[in-house]
Amino acid sequence: MTPKTGYSRRMDSVRRSFIREILKVTQDPSIISFAGGLPSPDSFPCEELAKVAAAVIGESGRNALQYSTTEGDKELRTWVADRYRTKKALDVDPDCIVITTGSQQGLDLLSKVFIDPGDPVVLEKPGYLGAIQAFSLFEADFRIIPLGQDGPDLGALSEAVADGKARFFYAVPNFQNPSGISYTLEKRKGAAKILSDAGVCFIEDDPYGELRFMGESLPPVASFMTGRKVMLGTFSKISSPGLRVGWLWADPDSAHKMVTAKQASDLHTSTLLQAILVRYLKEYDIDEHIAKIRAIYKERRDVMAARIREKFPTEVTCTQPEGGMFLWAELPEGYSAMDLFDLAIAEKVAFVPGKPFFIDGGDACLRLNFSNSDPERIITGIDRLAVCLDKLLSAKTAGA
Ligand SMILES: Cc1ncc(COP(=O)(O)O)c(C=O)c1O
Repeated sequence: MTPKTGYSRRMDSVRRSFIREILKVTQDPSIISFAGGLPSPDSFPCEELAKVAAAVIGESGRNALQYSTTEGDKELRTWVADRYRTKKALDVDPDCIVITTGSQQGLDLLSKVFIDPGDPVVLEKPGYLGAIQAFSLFEADFRIIPLGQDGPDLGALSEAVADGKARFFYAVPNFQNPSGISYTLEKRKGAAKILSDAGVCFIEDDPYGELRFMGESLPPVASFMTGRKVMLGTFSKISSPGLRVGWLWADPDSAHKMVTAKQASDLHTSTLLQAILVRYLKEYDIDEHIAKIRAIYKERRDVMAARIREKFPTEVTCTQPEGGMFLWAELPEGYSAMDLFDLAIAEKVAFVPGKPFFIDGGDACLRLNFSNSDPERIITGIDRLAVCLDKLLSAKTAGA
């Protein structure tokens, strides 16, 4: 039956991204924004890409401006497969890599390939908003697994997959968005065993794994899976998000289905941007570039964490991630980050209240992005937020 709104039923099951709405408010340059999940523009390889783009169009424009295959550029897929082999000891066939228009498109394709309306899908709590949005559009029925500081609650994961009906468990095991939490080795192995035993697919989304600036890298959960798994990756955080180039790695059959789904979405990811990336990867050392990004983010994370320790009321807790782009703070019970948000905008500082990252609950949490503000603005912004926190906590105490 056609819904009364005149729009498809699936549009009723999805919320507009609250973060995109907040980003509109934070266009005002006087507001210090810790809201967006934006990489630092200081980290973009502008000069290198300018040179490479001119060379690609000048020397091979007739190919680079043409339609191309849905799977993506073979050289780029081979680069991704080699990197999985060298960095993560995963044996990856380039023919099982599909280049996507950002890893966000990977989420859309997965939904098309795996979810029928009402199918159970297992998610972390809190979870990545873009995934909640993508899966909601395909009318998934969410089963939620709480995240602790060391990773998912494995008891809850076992329960969620026990009936064998869940289509997949989607997770971000490295420096998760929004919480900054990473899974320990034990949790990685434990989650993989539970899913493999239950025959439930694991979707590992890893946009932040390369942004580790302290501690030791851990193997992907996928490396412990004996059952079906899909990995998503992206150039957004190691090069620049405006390129909109990501990838997925899946078993041959799933990869084939993703390609069919992608044909209907956009035929293929920009031929030109793939060609530019291929040339950039040949002519420049991306590891050197990633080392620069890590250094910038480490400084910013250290400045933010230290200022929070100094200025925030002690009742407010905060994660200390070893990489990525986010800190995650929690107010004492009974306080709302939405109330704090209103005070913060008046004080000209912004963050994302936790609620949109939860299917339900999350009122007391806030996500703070540290990658997109320089240390001076981080200090000023955290000072402003500390003033708001004092106001919020003292108002409630006075009213209590
Ligand atoms: C966990 C996660 N997955 C996917 C994406 C989408 O990234 P992309 O720019 O590759 O589409 C993001 C972006 O912030 C993210 O945080």
